[in-house]
Amino acid sequence: MKQSNIIAPSILSADFARLGPDVTEVLDAGADWVHFDVMDNHYVPNLTVGPLVCSALRKHGITAPIDVHLMVTPVDAIAQDFAKAGASSILFHPEASHHVDRTLQLIRDQGCQSGLVFNPTTSLDYLKYALDKVDIVLLMTVNPGFGGQKFIETALPKIEEARALIDQSGREIRLSVDGGVKRENIQAVARAGADTFVMGSGIFEVGPGKYKDRIDEYRELLAKA
Ligand code: DX5
Ligand code: ZN
Repeated sequence: MKQSNIIAPSILSADFARLGPDVTEVLDAGADWVHFDVMDNHYVPNLTVGPLVCSALRKHGITAPIDVHLMVTPVDAIAQDFAKAGASSILFHPEASHHVDRTLQLIRDQGCQSGLVFNPTTSLDYLKYALDKVDIVLLMTVNPGFGGQKFIETALPKIEEARALIDQSGREIRLSVDGGVKRENIQAVARAGADTFVMGSGIFEVGPGKYKDRIDEYRELLAKA
């Protein structure tokens, strides 16, 4: 069964020069989670931030869930570092880990929710064998590495496929979608079965002071989807 809608702004599009205040503002504007994109210039051709910045957000007073999306290889050591740095959920790309089951278990052992991330053409097969160890499934609707890319339409039937797998399992697993989610497609994404909406440019592009209007607009579209 679908859970309540979660809006998770991606820090990738936030103002890194004033990350704490910008994240505080977007949460005050009604966002639910902070989506924290970690890139290593190896698994993806871009480089962002590590556990130090995650714990800096906690020290700044951020209490909302921090949803860490690891686009790195190897996974295990940095996943544990993020758990210590205050992550709430830790998600990784299964092809970036040699032992997916072990990595999932290790994340849960640290007291965090665990998640698998699927690139646009990565098969959902991994999920079938890991349903008992996964709290969040994240489907990429762009190729990972950059914010502001165009939503890949062929991902919509894949969202339906993941929804069916989750529902058949009878487990409480969130279905999150990441990449190019905007006002023109958020309803289709919701109707396909997503309950968690990661949005970078779709929120931060309006600039400080205007996040609430944009988030309210998404909530309205979701309510009508
Ligand atoms: C891409 C990241 C996304 C990205 C989303 O690799 O995982 O979280 O920041 O940004 P938009 O919403 O702009 O596509
Ligand atoms: Zn992401």
